[in-house]
Amino acid sequence: MDSILVRGGRRLAGRIPISGAKNACLALMPAALLTDDPLTLTNAPRLSDIRTMRQLLESLGCEVASLQAGGVLVIGAQEIANHTADYDIVRKMRASILVLGPMLARDGHAVVSLPGGCAIGARPVDLHLMGLERLGATLELRDGYVHASAPSGLRGGVVDFPMVSVGATENLLMAATLARGTTVLRNAAREPEIVDLARCLRAMGAQIAGEGTETIEIEGVARLHGATHPVVADRIELGTYMLAPAIAGGEVELVGGRRELVAAFADKLEEAGVSVEETAEGVKVSRHNGRILPVDVETAPYPGFPTDLQAQMMALLTLADGVSRLEERIFENRFMHAPELTRMGARIEVHGGAATVTGVERLKGAPVMATDLRASVSLILAGLGAEGETRVARVYHLDRGYERVEEKLSACGAEIERVTERAA
Ligand code: EPZ
Repeated sequence: MDSILVRGGRRLAGRIPISGAKNACLALMPAALLTDDPLTLTNAPRLSDIRTMRQLLESLGCEVASLQAGGVLVIGAQEIANHTADYDIVRKMRASILVLGPMLARDGHAVVSLPGGCAIGARPVDLHLMGLERLGATLELRDGYVHASAPSGLRGGVVDFPMVSVGATENLLMAATLARGTTVLRNAAREPEIVDLARCLRAMGAQIAGEGTETIEIEGVARLHGATHPVVADRIELGTYMLAPAIAGGEVELVGGRRELVAAFADKLEEAGVSVEETAEGVKVSRHNGRILPVDVETAPYPGFPTDLQAQMMALLTLADGVSRLEERIFENRFMHAPELTRMGARIEVHGGAATVTGVERLKGAPVMATDLRASVSLILAGLGAEGETRVARVYHLDRGYERVEEKLSACGAEIERVTERAA
């Protein structure tokens, strides 16, 4: 297993290119199942999660051509030869559940393994299933699989989500494009990845209105056709790298990022004393000699503060000049980075869904363990601001969501390298 070694204390200067959004691409790829024409995605991120989704689609009979080293994906679902998404792929990546809606809408039947929980929480899929039932599907849970059928096709309906769910909104948005009649999604997720998916579906011939608001209306059509669609910039990668100069000091321009993708987060960064400036090519973030100021954070669905940036923000606040409070309101167990940051000298108290961080003068590098994707990158960020060397183990978590992190950071002057552990 690889580790990442970071030697802290270097101020940063330079530019970091922001890649296409993992969480947009993981919904856009299954959209190809809705048509027998090829769907081309450009600006696709080169990540292990994307390769896993490619494997899943190929196991269903899709042809996936990966051009420009994965930057362009051409996905052809001429026909879906196999309608079963196997547990051994689904358990590796929960987003696999997003093939359920499209397969059901296209062919009237699908068998998808329940994804199971993950490190950050139980993460049920009951809202996905409730919504598909509202569109006329019959669902049966057997041997850990969802057996879904709609022999006479899906019909439009009103889906009232009791809580905001990104994945359930995406599954229903895709399924509704081929349902007979009108579908209304209420309390829908408003994330930029949802807007990006709607734009791609519209380019494929879908009739959708209201994406980005809490009510999305879809008029079903008989069939969709292929399209070419650029994956939207990754706002979580953007926010993550905005924190690098904030923690290490210096100035970095995030090329391809847009402030409006991370508005709530950028506001909090400015409240913490970090300067955020929009440029012609992206967003420039700097902190020179000013202290980091404590701030309070509550995670919320978009446009609120993203849960996927909570761990990274905590890394910054461990060095603030005072006490900060972070409330994690989306997932039930998303503070696993806290004990690892404590090993580096941070002062953090976790009580249920809230963490209190008392800033310290400096962190000390230490060997730490990655537990989930965003926790692992928060440890790297902390390492940038720590004295000495930090070794982050189990970086396979990292490679799921960050393309070439050590290259992007070392290009800005960070002392960071990937170490491949020889098999003992
Ligand atoms: C998406 O997960 C993202 N993943 C997550 O990013 C992100 O943290 C999350 O949205 C919230 O923004 C992808 O897009 C692939 P949800 P998703 O459905 O769709 C509960 C990362 O680090 N819920 O919005 O699974 C659920 O347990 C990942 O890139 C139900 O109860 O998130 C959670 O508490 C981590 N029933 C809350 O809703 C359901 O049927 C929000 O989940 C569905 C969800």
